Amino acid sequence: MENIPNNEFAFVVFGGTGDLTKRKLIPALFSLMKEERLSDKFSVVLVGRRDKDLNDYKKELLECVKTYSRCNAKNDEWELFSEKIVYCKFDFIDEDNGYDKLANILSFYENRIFYLAVAPEFFESIIRRLKEHKLIERKTGFQRIMIEKPFGYSLESARKLNEDITKIIPEKKIFRVDHYLGKDMIQNILSIRFGNSIFEPLWNQNYIDNIQIISTETIGVESRGAYYDNTGIIKDMLQNHILQMLALVAMEPPVNLEPESIRNEKVKVLNALRPFDKKSAMENIVRGQYDRGIVNGEEVLAYREEERVDKGSNTDTFIALKINVDNFRWAGVPFYIKAGKRLDRKGTEIIIQFKRLPGINFYSSLKNSKPDLLVIRVQPEEGLFFQINAKRPGSDIIEPVKMDYCQSCRIDYNSPEAYERIILEAIRNNSAIFTRWDELEYSWSFEKSIRDSFEGVIEKYPNYASGSNGPSKATELLKREGRIWWDRDKL
Ligand code: BG6
Repeated sequence: MENIPNNEFAFVVFGGTGDLTKRKLIPALFSLMKEERLSDKFSVVLVGRRDKDLNDYKKELLECVKTYSRCNAKNDEWELFSEKIVYCKFDFIDEDNGYDKLANILSFYENRIFYLAVAPEFFESIIRRLKEHKLIERKTGFQRIMIEKPFGYSLESARKLNEDITKIIPEKKIFRVDHYLGKDMIQNILSIRFGNSIFEPLWNQNYIDNIQIISTETIGVESRGAYYDNTGIIKDMLQNHILQMLALVAMEPPVNLEPESIRNEKVKVLNALRPFDKKSAMENIVRGQYDRGIVNGEEVLAYREEERVDKGSNTDTFIALKINVDNFRWAGVPFYIKAGKRLDRKGTEIIIQFKRLPGINFYSSLKNSKPDLLVIRVQPEEGLFFQINAKRPGSDIIEPVKMDYCQSCRIDYNSPEAYERIILEAIRNNSAIFTRWDELEYSWSFEKSIRDSFEGVIEKYPNYASGSNGPSKATELLKREGRIWWDRDKL
């Protein structure tokens, strides 16, 4: 990551006492400061409704940094960082004069980033007040708004939200966050694709059999039951993180690396996703919800038993599906997606399975060869895995040869957290790793086709045990097409 120019700035978080602030934003800002990627002069202003004693809150935040930051916090480093934290208590909906208080605190900074880590229904109101109180759209410095997902709850609400906020500020000042775009290996997708003559010429329906995007978690909904029960995996992961990964894997080469050029190509892919109807949804989508089970040796509750989750909830915590991208490059190539909570392992990877050569059938020794695979390992390990066929030394037997590059194993490299990059790129005004409205509009529209297709369809939940690899129907989905899900650990 490059450092920013030496700009002073204030980083203001709405939702300053929330989970995201504690687990991601503060640890990320701390690491950025520690690695000297920020200007010396900056302030972190946390806006919240709760009464907080600043010193106590700082102690709480230090614990979060110790737990969640990839960098350790030495006393003097924490001292330096904690001096920059200000807590600004007010109700950002009901207390209009709270914005004057905020204006006072910010009077030393013309460059301001406002991070909205609150529910979507508050976005418009906060942005409007920021403008009314002249905290944004100023003649000097930069003022930008970072908006955490979800951007709306549906196609309809996202459209309305976007209309409302773009009446107040222009698109170029809005940074819609999808933290997956800040992950190093996601950033690497374009370099791998467009930097290697051994891949790009083959990156199409002539040579690729299928693409799998797998993102599984061992955690359940934790303390976010109320949010999750109204969201489910389709809105929580598929509509955003997964479709963004898919767009980067499937897009055409951009004419240059300008943010708009990259976004222009991504949006074409999202526009080419074949929407589902009732029939195709039933055939190609498997949904699930976790039951009790054992994860990492510990007994865990069923989804319906989680805090602030409806006891009879039908919310999905798992999805597996086949997506078609209807364009020239990808005609006939299935994109298989699997994502879920409380599964047997945490991991995100993108697997490109190449087609077998026709000649293979004529050579008996080649018949059992494995397909060529390229695996982009996003997390927890970062790296690349490549499987090809070669002859076993001293014999005629063909066997898979594996080349494994583990980026995160390098001792000279401590991979930045996604939120570090997200924050840094917003300061640098690099919108390439944020989602443009039209990308979101197509993603929501795809989500709507799924939602509409399942209208009134009730699954028998729960249908998979925590700690398992999901509902058995997910395995069937590929098996019936003569394929399997590739499991990174078994390659
Ligand atoms: C968030 C979702 O956007 O991404 C969470 O709301 C999910 O439910 C998380 O757990 C996964 O992120 P990561 O970086 O841990 O893979």
